Amino acid sequence: MDHVVLTGDRPTGPLHLGHYFGSLANRLALQGTYPMYVLIADYQVITDRDLPGEIQRNITELLLDHLAVGLDPARVTIFRHSAIPELNQLLLPFLSLVSVAELRRNPTVKDEIAHSSQQAVNGLMFTYPVHQAADILFCKGTLVPVGKDQLPHLEMARLVARRFNERYGEIFPVPEAMLGERPLLGGLDGGKMSKSRGNAIPLRATEDETAALIRRARTDSERLITFDEEGRPEVANLLTLASLCLGRPQRELADEIGYGGAAALKRLVTDAVNEFLGPIRARRREHTEAEAHAVLEEGNRRARERAITTLDEVREAMRF
Ligand code: TRP
Repeated sequence: MDHVVLTGDRPTGPLHLGHYFGSLANRLALQGTYPMYVLIADYQVITDRDLPGEIQRNITELLLDHLAVGLDPARVTIFRHSAIPELNQLLLPFLSLVSVAELRRNPTVKDEIAHSSQQAVNGLMFTYPVHQAADILFCKGTLVPVGKDQLPHLEMARLVARRFNERYGEIFPVPEAMLGERPLLGGLDGGKMSKSRGNAIPLRATEDETAALIRRARTDSERLITFDEEGRPEVANLLTLASLCLGRPQRELADEIGYGGAAALKRLVTDAVNEFLGPIRARRREHTEAEAHAVLEEGNRRARERAITTLDEVREAMRF
């Protein structure tokens, strides 16, 4: 099957290791095989906060993160929501395909509301999954590499595609999620690794910053290190982090540490992460901000061309 790959991130801060193992690794593996779009979801930033914050800075960092991990802009189209009016316009017909009950049911939205710092939940919080369907469908994306938390949004995109096709004629392929085959990486406090929860290791962290973050990680007082995801989730998570960086099983690492306790565990994790991030740090230094912005301009141009074609098809199917 000839796939079109689409995936994206909110520009709320630098990308971290959770992103790397959750989806960047997939992007790298796929970039030579299929046409791929990588979205900078700037309009999605204002779902759980009132102001977009340092959005330009975050976008620059996001671009540099992608170049640093080895994404090739000759093969991948990187673009942003706000540069593609025709993508955004798909939101209107798409919203008409979904019920309010379906919008309310989304477990990822519920979780985000629970962690939001806002006084009141805004309308975009409930409707952005439909906008995300437009992200995926504007380029007729068929394969969406994401973390597990995005599956409800993928279901929304599938629903929108099927309903549009039923009502107005076959235009959209029904997209599929592609989950990272690796275990979901938790944050340094045992919860989900998330830039807004302050428990993540950014890809651009220096060696010292990395060491400091891991030093602060939550563990327990048991000296014998064991890999027990249920009973000792914080320790297990640190072992998973080291395991992903080193490509070695968690139990083997735990056995090696033995009675070394949290201090030895943290030393091992710090070395593993720093070794893993070494080549990424080196590649980041090879790219300038001006280069990153030129990559985005070109990506916006290509994505917009695609969106114009799809919106024309949609209008025609709807007899507008
Ligand atoms: N919701 C995703 C996140 O918070 C970002 C995103 C926006 C996305 N549009 C997308 C991911 C389309 C995959 C496909 O990380």
